[in-house]
Amino acid sequence: MDSTPAPATSGQFLLVACRGGAEAELVRRQEAVVPQVRKAAWRRGVVTFRLDPPGHPPFDPPRDFWTDLVFARTCVHSLGQVAGDDDAARVAAALAMAAGPWQNVHVWARDPALEASVEAIRSRLLAAAGITATTTIAAPGDRVLDCVLDSAERWWVGWHRAATPPSRWPGGIYPGTLPPSAVSRAWLKLDEAIATFEPALDPGQRAVELGAAPGGACQRLLEAGLDVVGIDPALVDPVVAAHPRFMQWRKRARDVKLREFRGFDWLVCDMNIDPVSTMESLGRIVTAPGVRPRGIIATLKLPEWSRAAALPDWLASFRGWGFRPQARQLSTGGREVCVVARASKP
Ligand SMILES: C[S@@+](CC[C@H](N)C(=O)[O-])C[C@H]1O[C@@H](n2cnc3c(N)ncnc32)[C@H](O)[C@@H]1O
Repeated sequence: MDSTPAPATSGQFLLVACRGGAEAELVRRQEAVVPQVRKAAWRRGVVTFRLDPPGHPPFDPPRDFWTDLVFARTCVHSLGQVAGDDDAARVAAALAMAAGPWQNVHVWARDPALEASVEAIRSRLLAAAGITATTTIAAPGDRVLDCVLDSAERWWVGWHRAATPPSRWPGGIYPGTLPPSAVSRAWLKLDEAIATFEPALDPGQRAVELGAAPGGACQRLLEAGLDVVGIDPALVDPVVAAHPRFMQWRKRARDVKLREFRGFDWLVCDMNIDPVSTMESLGRIVTAPGVRPRGIIATLKLPEWSRAAALPDWLASFRGWGFRPQARQLSTGGREVCVVARASKP
């Protein structure tokens, strides 16, 4: 835990960011998905992987392979570390290490609790690199210089090519914010899931959410123009309950008759129950006669991070039900995984 991610000067390293605590699960996914690379070192929130482990040919990872790592927020080709007397010295050292041209600069802290002047450092790096990017959100295709703050005095320098939505956000952290009108943080989680996986939520479609109270996710679906049914024994916030396109079924999911789930385009699920129970609940619904949503957006809560060991089995279940699942530990989510699964044959 205290080891320092190896500098890249002596080899080729990937630096992968994750939520603090999820490091072991990130490595478990790496071993399954890209066994060609080796874990080098880790600190809370960051794991480095060696691309040319001894005795193996250098591995050239396919573009965006890291999105299959589920717990990876973003992935950077590490160039090395910089220290120095002050920010000016560190900026000069970073630019000397990283040959441009760059189209954007992402500055982010390994530990979100680190008090560092991210904006000031980014401004200096932008000026030194001679680029005028104003938004931190990179455009697809941009070559992005990454400056990862381990501490205020020690930075890792690396780069990546922006492509998927999370790779366009500094540190893979969703830049959206919770609107004051939102009744719960689930609004922002669903907003991030939509921005990440881009499910085709269209006005006029019907969605049903299991575990709907107090209603932030339903609110987000209503804002997208869908008709929404929220299932929860707990009461939904009156603001959401009063919406003309919303209805609550005040029951537990298993007390709803299966035929009631017919005709919904989206099955959304955010119950605070064991993930095995969530999977049973989803399976019972989507394998019922006449129930065929276009997609599922589900949160699988992890009582411990190690429960993610079952993730391959859960994703296999989604495939067995006729869906193509993608999974990510959202930056706005807690110890949980979001699965967005589209029907294989709509
Ligand atoms: C994390 S909260 C959901 C937040 C909600 N999605 C939102 O947007 O505000 C979890 C909810 O799951 C509900 N829940 C737990 N078990 C349930 C079950 N068997 N059926 C339906 N809802 C359930 C709880 O009552 C609780 O309101």
